[in-house]
Amino acid sequence: MNRFPTPPTCAAIRAAFPAVCGDTVFLENAGGSQVPACVADAMHRTLRETYVQLGAGYGLSRRCTATVEAAHAFARTFVGARRGQAIIGPSTTALLNLLAACYAQVLEPGREIILAETGHEANLGCWKRLERLGLVIRWWRVDPRSFECPLDGLRTLLNERTALVALPHVSNLLGGVVDLPAVVALAHAAGARVVADGVAYAPHRAIDVDAWDVDWYVYSTYKVFGPHMAVLYGRDDALAELPGPNHDFIPRDDLPYQFEPGGANHEGCAGLLALGGYLAFLAGAPAGTACDRAVVEAAFGRATALEAEPTARLLAWLRARSGVRIIGPEAAGTARVGTVSFVHERKSSREITAAVDASGVAIRCGHMYAYHLCKALGIAVEDGVVRASLVHYNTVEEIDRLIGVLERVV
Ligand SMILES: Cc1ncc(COP(=O)(O)O)c(C=O)c1O
Repeated sequence: MNRFPTPPTCAAIRAAFPAVCGDTVFLENAGGSQVPACVADAMHRTLRETYVQLGAGYGLSRRCTATVEAAHAFARTFVGARRGQAIIGPSTTALLNLLAACYAQVLEPGREIILAETGHEANLGCWKRLERLGLVIRWWRVDPRSFECPLDGLRTLLNERTALVALPHVSNLLGGVVDLPAVVALAHAAGARVVADGVAYAPHRAIDVDAWDVDWYVYSTYKVFGPHMAVLYGRDDALAELPGPNHDFIPRDDLPYQFEPGGANHEGCAGLLALGGYLAFLAGAPAGTACDRAVVEAAFGRATALEAEPTARLLAWLRARSGVRIIGPEAAGTARVGTVSFVHERKSSREITAAVDASGVAIRCGHMYAYHLCKALGIAVEDGVVRASLVHYNTVEEIDRLIGVLERVV
């Protein structure tokens, strides 16, 4: 039985986001999404009322400490963690750098790290830099026809020296959803751990680290209707293998603090926690419902359903346009999210994007830090792709406005 039979209307959803109520059509969500008013208000309130240090005995400190702890609990629920920790940090790039620095202390020279060529540089650069320590990088190549890194390719790379496999769950340029459980199963069979970048997946679908059995999973909260921070999930046994980077007098089992040097951003934690209220609203739960796993799943079920039509419409228009090449899966459906990239055979991506931007529709062009991927696909990195990226608050009318401008430009 559906616990939440009456989800909000599209108009009510849009009204929850002050920034999307203006004139600009915002289709740059893969860059960073907008926040609902409840998130902005919670951050504002924290800065005005409980902006004090954690762990002291006075009342304000106890309140602020409780907020930061509750934000960690929310993050665990959000990612579906039942046997691991949610580490909160400033960004995905920073958290993956931290993770790589921890692995640098325990991996022997000669161990191998497999990197998916479809990755964002945040999950590549930090591992590539370990080559200096004698670790060996193996590239998991992308097939330029399917835009996927094939599982067979991974099979041939895995061996007893493999320590890690780093990949994006969804590429922020291609939009296709990778079969993460299949990757995890292969990697685990070879004794390797998996570091999945969920940044481009998290705004669209419910994360379920426990079901996928993944070792490390990271996403940026500012792309999921929240403040500018990131969450790194680590499974208990993966965490236990690593020395955390915090001060040496902090006990090793003081988790996740051992992996949060300097602590988490307080007002950001308040904003992250408040997102639970928005997810309950999106799920159609009665006011005041706590954000549990059922709420997260129902909210993202609704988000996925809302994204389907606008995504399909944009892809259908692009497919029908001569001179346009979609970079990523061409068909809409569950195997892709609404992050849609393309190039044109005569017009540069810059030229197209400038014209679209000038019409009040916000999109983006470039290599999107998927630099290796662009090179592998033969796309000029200086110009890159045109990318329009939508989330659940975008409408078919907004996509039609984009299409109207593109009709004139390409
Ligand atoms: C797929 C993907 N991974 C990682 C990142 C880096 O995230 P952050 O800005 O939090 O470091 C981005 C940012 O755009 C991204 O799209």
